[in-house]
Amino acid sequence: MFLPAEIDALIHLGSMNGGSKPQLVLGSNGKKYVVKLMGNPHGTRILANEYVVGKLASILDVPSPSVDIVYFDQSFVNGVNTAVQHTFRAGPAFGSLYIEGENLQAVPTNSMSMMTTSNAKKWTNAIVFDALVQNVDLKPAHIVIMKNLSSGSSEFWHVDHGHCLGFGNSWNTLTNAGIFIRNRLYPELVSGANPFEDGFQKLQEITPERVDGILGELPLAEWEVPGSDMIALSNYLAIAKDVTPNAIMRAKGRFSKWV
Ligand SMILES: Nc1ncnc2c1ncn2[C@@H]1O[C@H](COP(=O)(O)OP(=O)(O)OP(=O)(O)O)[C@@H](O)[C@H]1O
Ligand SMILES: [Mg+2]
Repeated sequence: MFLPAEIDALIHLGSMNGGSKPQLVLGSNGKKYVVKLMGNPHGTRILANEYVVGKLASILDVPSPSVDIVYFDQSFVNGVNTAVQHTFRAGPAFGSLYIEGENLQAVPTNSMSMMTTSNAKKWTNAIVFDALVQNVDLKPAHIVIMKNLSSGSSEFWHVDHGHCLGFGNSWNTLTNAGIFIRNRLYPELVSGANPFEDGFQKLQEITPERVDGILGELPLAEWEVPGSDMIALSNYLAIAKDVTPNAIMRAKGRFSKWV
C-alpha cells in the first residue's frame, strides 16, 4: 500500500531544460530535487518508470541520483504552473536528488571526459542496466559529469529513466526480445577479460522480494499503473536478469578492448 509521501515540495528554485519540463525544488527534508510532475508533457506514466528504474540503477551499482517521491500540494503547484506556463497536477511527483556540491561543476560529456572519471569502471554496469531496462533514450546529455574544481577529480551520473520499460506502453508489452545493447556510447571504456562481471553479479540481486518492495512504494493510481502491469514487470524482471548477460555476451565483438 502507498503511504503518504514524507517529502513535501517547499520552494520552487527554477526549471531544468527538458521535454518533460523538470523543475528544481527544495524539499521539506532540506534536500534539492529535480522533479517531474503529474501532467508533464511526456505523460504521467513516466514517473513510475523513473522511480522503478532509478531503484534498479541503485541495485546494479550504476552511478545515478537517488530517487524519492516529492509531494506537491495544490497551492504550490498553482505557483509553479503560473511561473512556467504549464498545467501540472498536484500530488506525488518523481524526485531525483539534485547533483550538486561545493566546487562541483558540470563538464561536457565525451569520450575523454568519461575516461577520466573516477567511477569510469562502473560504465559496464550502466551497459548491463540499459539493456535490462530497455533504455531507448541514452545520449550524452543523459550522462552528467561533475568535476570537483579543487581536487580535479570527476564522476559520471546516469540520469533520465523515463524512456525505459516500454516508455509510453504498458509493462505488459515487455519481452525478452527487447533485451539487447542499444547503448552505443563509449565502448572504449569496456576493457579486460571479464568487464561485466560485477554487473552480471548485481543482476542476481534483483530478487522478487526487492522488486515487490519497490513496486509497493509506487502511488499506483496517481501514476496510472494498473495492478496487471506490476505483475507483468515482476515476471519480466525475474527472467530478464538471466537473459541480459547472454545478450551482452553476444555483442562482444563490439568492444575491441574486451579480451
Ligand atoms: N538529479 C539531477 N541532478 C542534476 N542535474 C540533473 C538531474 N536530473 C536531470 N538533470 C539535468 O536536467 C536535464 C533534464 O533532465 P531529464 O533528461 O531527466 O529531463 P527530460 O524532460 O527527460 O529531458 P529531455 O526531454 O531533454 O530528455 C538532464 O539532461 C540533466 O542535465
Ligand atoms: Mg532527458
